[in-house]
Amino acid sequence: MPTDGVRGEERNPDRPAVDRAATFSSDAGRVWDARYAKAGYAYGTAPNAFLTSVAHHLPPGRVLSLGEGEGRNATYLAAEGWSVHCVDASAVGLDKALRLATEAHVTITTEVVDLAVYDIGPATWDGIVSIFCHLPPAARRRLHQQVVRGLRPGGVLILEAYTPQQLAYGTGGPPVADLLVTLDELRSALDGLDFVIAHELERDVLEGRLHVGRSAVVQIVGKKRDPAARS
Ligand SMILES: C[S@@+](CC[C@H](N)C(=O)[O-])C[C@H]1O[C@@H](n2cnc3c(N)ncnc32)[C@H](O)[C@@H]1O
Repeated sequence: MPTDGVRGEERNPDRPAVDRAATFSSDAGRVWDARYAKAGYAYGTAPNAFLTSVAHHLPPGRVLSLGEGEGRNATYLAAEGWSVHCVDASAVGLDKALRLATEAHVTITTEVVDLAVYDIGPATWDGIVSIFCHLPPAARRRLHQQVVRGLRPGGVLILEAYTPQQLAYGTGGPPVADLLVTLDELRSALDGLDFVIAHELERDVLEGRLHVGRSAVVQIVGKKRDPAARS
């Protein structure tokens, strides 16, 4: 049964053998490189359905895509007119992202980073996108603080991630509870955003060979408060 995480490796011989610490730590690049070295696109080339349904909330301008992987979401956003910078631990994934963008006749930029220590920079981005970017709790908390800080006033975060209920589905995502995230945690961690959408739901996630069915997800569209704006 497909999962993005370590127990999935035991069940799926098509995956690299990895241990949990290596998968989601500073060694993430090596592990994801091995996954993305396979032919084809692990999550397909079509953009994430939640992203396409809410992208109109993003202001024009510069978007940072966290854990962009092989480029499906960045390519879509670039084709829609945003200037997209992709960060990910996997150089192999980002190379494929550049190829996908080139094939679509759009331009994106990429940077290999470890999101556990990445500095987003204050008030830098009009939009930040995080699609199924699962990190351990401490790194996740830090990253979400960075996201709030990194958005310009009026800037928008779009996030979709698996919740702990996903463990019962086994249709994708890390099979480890502490890598999954709840709406309650995100509401608290993303203090400083006004939520346009903030909910947990079940939906069919059909993305490439690793996201393959009914899933439990949390979805967020949050806009950074603008102290200068009149209410
Ligand atoms: C499930 S994939 C999702 C990829 C992409 N967002 C998509 O939806 O197609 C998770 C991505 O997070 C990246 N990632 C995991 N841990 C990371 C870390 N510590 N720093 C940077 N990227 C990381 C992986 O390399 C991988 O590309």
